[in-house]
Amino acid sequence: MLNHDLVFLKRFSMLLVFLGALALGLILFAHYLNGKVVYDKDPGTHQNLLDRIAPVGAVYAGATGAAAQAAAAAAAAAAQTANVPFDGRTDGAEIFNNGPCTGCHTAGVGGAPKLDAAGIGARVAQQGVEELIKKATEGFTGSAGVMPARGGNPALTDDQMKAVVEWMASQSK
Ligand code: HEC
Repeated sequence: MLNHDLVFLKRFSMLLVFLGALALGLILFAHYLNGKVVYDKDPGTHQNLLDRIAPVGAVYAGATGAAAQAAAAAAAAAAQTANVPFDGRTDGAEIFNNGPCTGCHTAGVGGAPKLDAAGIGARVAQQGVEELIKKATEGFTGSAGVMPARGGNPALTDDQMKAVVEWMASQSK
């Protein structure tokens, strides 16, 4: 090996040792700095993080899981009733008077049977309340005119339709 090769190797290895030491120093310095960082303790931030990483289809297991599942189901049910008219209440009078039904059935618009013995009362006698609930829910066209499904408000629930038709029947004696 020539002399100047040896000189080069010596200098080059010194350079490598120096760079290695420098890298190690920077690593230790970064580690030290990282220890000084104060992380955000805001509970809102923490909750946001949990929300972001929450599984889309949550899996529930064990007793805690059952409780969490019940809570999730209750929250879902609450969210659903929020979109239902009258907040999901099944007060027949309230639904009739504030819903679509009164528009036709109070004055008998378009052949709609009124809330009297000759109107809804006669139909209860002929068909029975259950049948009226079914037809009012599904909608139908009869000889008198068109009864739109759920009075034209598809958001009314089955329970609400049952309640309002039963109330109409009770008012038509
Ligand atoms: C656009 C007008 C209109 C609205 C709104 C309306 N109805 Fe009717 N409804 C009718 C007509 C017309 C008939 C009679 C159809 C026939 O027999 O030819 C009828 C019939 C009925 C009957 C008797 C069904 C049968 O089998 O004889 C019931 C019960 C009833 N409606 C309930 C309701 C309820 C409850 C609502 C509100 C959620 C409602 N209607 C809203 C027009 C309407």
